[in-house]
Amino acid sequence: MGDARRDWRTWRAATEEALYGAEGFFRTQAPAAHFRTSVHVSPAFAAALLRLARTVGARTVVDVGAGRGELLRALHDLDPDLQLVGIEVAERPAGLPASVRWSADLPEELDGLLVANEWLDDIPVDVAELDDARVPRLVEVDAATGDERLGDPVGAEDLAWLADWWPLADGPPGARAEIGRPRDLAWAEVVRRLRSGLALAVDYSHVRWRRPPAGTLRGYRAGRPVAPVPDRSCDITAHVAVDAVARAGERAGADETLLTSQRAALTALGVDGARPPLAMAGSDPVGYLRALSRAGEAAELVAPGGLGDFWWLAQAKFAPAGTRAGSRTVDLRQALGEPDPPTALSPSPSSRTPPSASSVE
Ligand SMILES: C[S@@+](CC[C@H](N)C(=O)[O-])C[C@H]1O[C@@H](n2cnc3c(N)ncnc32)[C@H](O)[C@@H]1O
Repeated sequence: MGDARRDWRTWRAATEEALYGAEGFFRTQAPAAHFRTSVHVSPAFAAALLRLARTVGARTVVDVGAGRGELLRALHDLDPDLQLVGIEVAERPAGLPASVRWSADLPEELDGLLVANEWLDDIPVDVAELDDARVPRLVEVDAATGDERLGDPVGAEDLAWLADWWPLADGPPGARAEIGRPRDLAWAEVVRRLRSGLALAVDYSHVRWRRPPAGTLRGYRAGRPVAPVPDRSCDITAHVAVDAVARAGERAGADETLLTSQRAALTALGVDGARPPLAMAGSDPVGYLRALSRAGEAAELVAPGGLGDFWWLAQAKFAPAGTRAGSRTVDLRQALGEPDPPTALSPSPSSRTPPSASSVE
């Protein structure tokens, strides 16, 4: 194709348009049709979050990037008195309980538990690459084909982010980094609006001492990893630089931070993947099979190399004494156990789980 006819944009701009523009992927496609998150894997995930909400005294749960409201429905079934709010660019899904609020925008102020499960990884980022002179340049992509070329040198704010969080300077020509600054900004806005309570981000992530040298940009479609082509036909995602996001939350006013693995957090919240005793198969075969299936789902939530190696970033804010929201403090270690961050660069870059066959449209 002649270069004049190509639509070259930075990865951030191209992904923004492909996922969230008119007819964008997430406006027209249910995430569950393309991959399975913890929310879809097991009702034990919602039950654990309900336990967390109660532990921190939250009567409101806000789900940021709420997909088709699956987590909110599950929470409503477990406790119809909870106040539930979904924040999502897609339209309100049909059949959501009437009491569940649904909006495209975060409220200006919120108290309670805010959950962002696999939200940050879908906030579009730019990609930087060292050219032959080892100058970091923005990578541009042709939206129709996914072909790439090097564009302008990286600007000052992004260069500063790279220096702090993903230093490229010592790398060879061709070394790449995903510039997580838009995720930091988005999370800081969440924490800023939280008056009191807990903000929880759950995602596949990496930290500064273990950034993947070639990056993690991926596409997902119908249960399979595919080449990331920003043509609206697939999700485009990249692992989250979770340490940078945590620092942004602290700068936005978080009083306490805990970074741990989903395995450690869910275990502390009572998720148990142990199989039922075999003797039960004789006395209550139907109950045994049901318990076995529940145990299998719970085990998937905490599996090494999979969902169990997702990172949990929990940041609490305590309302000043005397305000309407109270002065309740939150003991994150008591709620989520001692921090036990994933040690491997895991889950692997093809970390998304295929949807169950019935949910692929
Ligand atoms: C990977 S899906 C996760 C859905 C759900 N949280 C789950 O765990 O199954 C990410 C969702 O975040 C939504 N999203 C991304 N950026 C958003 C924003 N700025 N405001 C509202 N929703 C957003 C997308 O539309 C998509 O539904």
